[in-house]
Amino acid sequence: MEIVKTIISSEKLAERVDELAALISRDYAGRTVTLVCVLKGGVIFMVDLARKLKLDVELDFLEISSYRDATESGIIKFTKDLSNPITGKHALLIEDIVDSGKTLNYLSGHLQAQKPASFKVCALLNKPDRRTVNGYEPDYIGFDIPDEFVVGYGLDYAQKYRNLSYIATLG
Ligand code: IMP
Ligand code: MG
Repeated sequence: MEIVKTIISSEKLAERVDELAALISRDYAGRTVTLVCVLKGGVIFMVDLARKLKLDVELDFLEISSYRDATESGIIKFTKDLSNPITGKHALLIEDIVDSGKTLNYLSGHLQAQKPASFKVCALLNKPDRRTVNGYEPDYIGFDIPDEFVVGYGLDYAQKYRNLSYIATLG
């Protein structure tokens, strides 16, 4: 598969990250926020967003088994869990993209069970037309996009293209 077209330029991404950071900084004013990044797709978004937040920020990471495994088996496995529990913390989950909603629904349940002081989700991309799960919906969304497979800015196809500075479609 090859890159077909850019759908979100690096300039547009940077602009939207600034807007999200302003919103989040306002909503969490005076609090320390723990950004929980879902590896690997969320990492580029997380580090760009973190640097724009006017807040005290802690970072943690988790990794789960791949999208295909997750959807086909219906079981999501942690390949890396958080370094520290989020109990009593203001946790903000950072996701690259919400597609069927299965991953987010599972992760939100798992993380809320740790009894954080608050729990919210920030997803860079959202494919509303693809939702099959009537579950947790992101509190902050970068961009709603149509039902097309996208790569770049953290998102991959077979581990490739994560380092693109823009979001593109493949074909
Ligand atoms: P969900 O559980 O179906 O919502 O899937 C979420 C996960 O699937 C994301 O965190 C991505 O890792 C992956 N994914 C879904 N759509 C895309 C895409 O268009 N490009 C790359 N990865 C995707
Ligand atoms: Mg992901």
